Amino acid sequence: MISPESGLKAVQCVDLVRDFGEGPARTTVLHGLNLDIAFGERLFLVGPSGCGKTTLISLMAGLLIPTSGSVALLGTDLASLAGDRLVSFRSRHIGFVFQQFNLIPALTATENVAVPLLLQGVGYREAQTRAAQMLERLEMGKHLHKQPVQMSGGQQQRVAVARSLVHDPQVLICDEPTASLDAQAGQLVMELLQEVAASPSRAVIVVTHDNRILPFATRVVHLSDGRIVPDGHSSS
Ligand SMILES: Nc1ncnc2c1ncn2[C@@H]1O[C@H](COP(=O)(O)OP(=O)(O)O)[C@@H](O)[C@H]1O
Ligand SMILES: [Mg+2]
Repeated sequence: MISPESGLKAVQCVDLVRDFGEGPARTTVLHGLNLDIAFGERLFLVGPSGCGKTTLISLMAGLLIPTSGSVALLGTDLASLAGDRLVSFRSRHIGFVFQQFNLIPALTATENVAVPLLLQGVGYREAQTRAAQMLERLEMGKHLHKQPVQMSGGQQQRVAVARSLVHDPQVLICDEPTASLDAQAGQLVMELLQEVAASPSRAVIVVTHDNRILPFATRVVHLSDGRIVPDGHSSS
């Protein structure tokens, strides 16, 4: 594990540009963005729909490749990792909660949560046990054996959160992790995320529209039209 004393940032985005589309339909979604995230931070990313939040965190997680600029995670330039090495780096160090959950339909809640552990070579039984414990912390103990289609949106969201945390990642990235949750379940998820980030060698990045959870942030960054709004210039 990389220690915060190393002077490295948990995440460092330098001049990050991302375009989508081809020819005349080509548009720039992120316009040269610079952002450092320190260990111990719970950085919340807010801004209107379509401003580039999901694109930015997908670049941070190595799920998208920048058009130009770079992302270093835990001191490693993601562009220096190719193919299997990137997949393995990501599965060891990053937890990611997708906006649309991205659960595997054929697997139960416990099996879905166990996936990151199995990818790291943890044995099947131990992976199932640890997955079930994480789900129980999110008050999902009654739903361990259900498949995603048998669960509500809020329950699926908690499975997605459990899956992002189960392998104890150093960097946790969540896209609207409380959007489908009522106040109580949202609070529970945020307390877990706070606990994760309480460790000085971890960082949590949360995209949100949910004002109820903003008090959990140590820093809020406003994004507008693919740019970071300088401090003191935001409208909210
Ligand atoms: N794969 C894609 N292809 C084309 N355009 C995309 C793609 N992904 C995102 N975009 C566009 O990029 C912009 C930012 O999207 P996104 O990062 O999802 O915003 P947010 O998460 O802030 O709502 C939007 O205009 C969206 O339509
Ligand atoms: Mg989004």
